[in-house]
Amino acid sequence: MNPYSFASDVKPLYTEHQIQQRVRDLGQSIAEDYAGLAPALIGVMKGSLFFFADLARAIDLPLTVDLLEVSSYAGGTETTGEVRITSDVSRPLAGQHVLVVEDIVDTGLTMNFLLDNLRARQPASLKLCSLLVKPSRARVPVQIDYRGFTVEDLFLVGYGLDYAERYRNLPFIGVMKNP
Ligand code: IMP
Repeated sequence: MNPYSFASDVKPLYTEHQIQQRVRDLGQSIAEDYAGLAPALIGVMKGSLFFFADLARAIDLPLTVDLLEVSSYAGGTETTGEVRITSDVSRPLAGQHVLVVEDIVDTGLTMNFLLDNLRARQPASLKLCSLLVKPSRARVPVQIDYRGFTVEDLFLVGYGLDYAERYRNLPFIGVMKNP
């Protein structure tokens, strides 16, 4: 059931509870893998906003947080293929154990571009954690080290994901009935 009247055209797919459980599991795996280190968590705005905040708090390590913003969507549901960093991290990444936190890997074009860009800054290691992955849409291969949920080719909104900048504030993830 969807109690949000502004989003009556969104059918819930993952509840707040399911998301939080998965985030806790991911946080534990990451904490085990990075034990003894202080990874640099880099959130990709704006889609990973809420996931990033929850994941960071689920990792029992002295990590640092930073944000960057990329633009890859014109505002509809299809990628434009054009990727730009519109706002960059505030500190150098050289020698850091960088973990990129993304909302969804769809065609992979955005992450392929971004990971290449970050790799050139010579981090000690570079990994990707994506809350959602849509394998059927992949156009370029992207290594996803941590993933929350594997989803079908549906247009999803909520928990940071938007349609034309709306619906990000839904606490659950749902499917747009008529995107
Ligand atoms: P990609 O470059 O095609 O992998 O697209 C990645 C970006 O597209 C994500 O970071 C999202 O911002 C956006 N995106 C892809 N699929 C969806 C979706 O189902 N809902 C909302 N945004 C999406």
